[in-house]
Amino acid sequence: MTAYGLVVSVLVLLLLGEAASADASGRIVGGDDQVIRNAPWQVSIQISARHECGGVIYSKEIVITAGHCLHGKSVTLMKVRVGAQNHNYGGTLVPVAAYKVHEQFDSTFLHFDIAVLRLSTLLTFGLSTRAINLARVSPSAGSTATVTGWGNTDNGALAETLQKAQLQIIDRAECASLKYGYGADFVGEETICAATTDADACTGDSGGPLVANSQLVGIVSWGYECANENYPGVYADVAILRSWIVKAANAI
Ligand code: ARG
Repeated sequence: MTAYGLVVSVLVLLLLGEAASADASGRIVGGDDQVIRNAPWQVSIQISARHECGGVIYSKEIVITAGHCLHGKSVTLMKVRVGAQNHNYGGTLVPVAAYKVHEQFDSTFLHFDIAVLRLSTLLTFGLSTRAINLARVSPSAGSTATVTGWGNTDNGALAETLQKAQLQIIDRAECASLKYGYGADFVGEETICAATTDADACTGDSGGPLVANSQLVGIVSWGYECANENYPGVYADVAILRSWIVKAANAI
């Protein structure tokens, strides 16, 4: 490995270190409880009967999540919990029939961190279970968006009940600028960032929704630590990836 390669690898390990230290800010920080009826598109993706990631209902049979949540994993181990307040009980647990990760997904940098999966049975929509529309336009810098999930809380464990946090959008160019710690190599062209003081997504929120004006604008992808002011949360930009999502959903 070249010296440059080594530096990049070490940095990647740091960035993807999933808040290895049980950092005090490790919560969908600033998180308030969110009732599932107010985020009925939110699901828990379970692998080997444990919450692995969040996900988003696109249709009665298709769920969107992050590429890194499914990449290389066996479909037979996957289930999706829908319509549930808690990731480990309630709602309905549905097996997964097939999944597809973006062809350009890059597991080192988490570029194109998007995937769709097909459920083995059709969902019944109701107050706690329904789809959300995909944004056609990327949200503008400074606008507000809400992230939800069961990711790590202050004590470094998953949240028992669904959490939400309100964030401000940081456009891709600003997120990749010297104003923050990442730089342009890390912040992919197909991403958008979001942050606020003392609130952020965290480990276990990946694959979950970032919502603005009742539309899906982002999918939780990665970040260095959680609620570190120099490192915003990075999201797959749904408007940019929209045509891939629509096509992949039809193809699997
Ligand atoms: N990669 C994390 C996951 O797998 C999501 C991290 C989001 N982090 C952040 N600081 N916004 O759950």
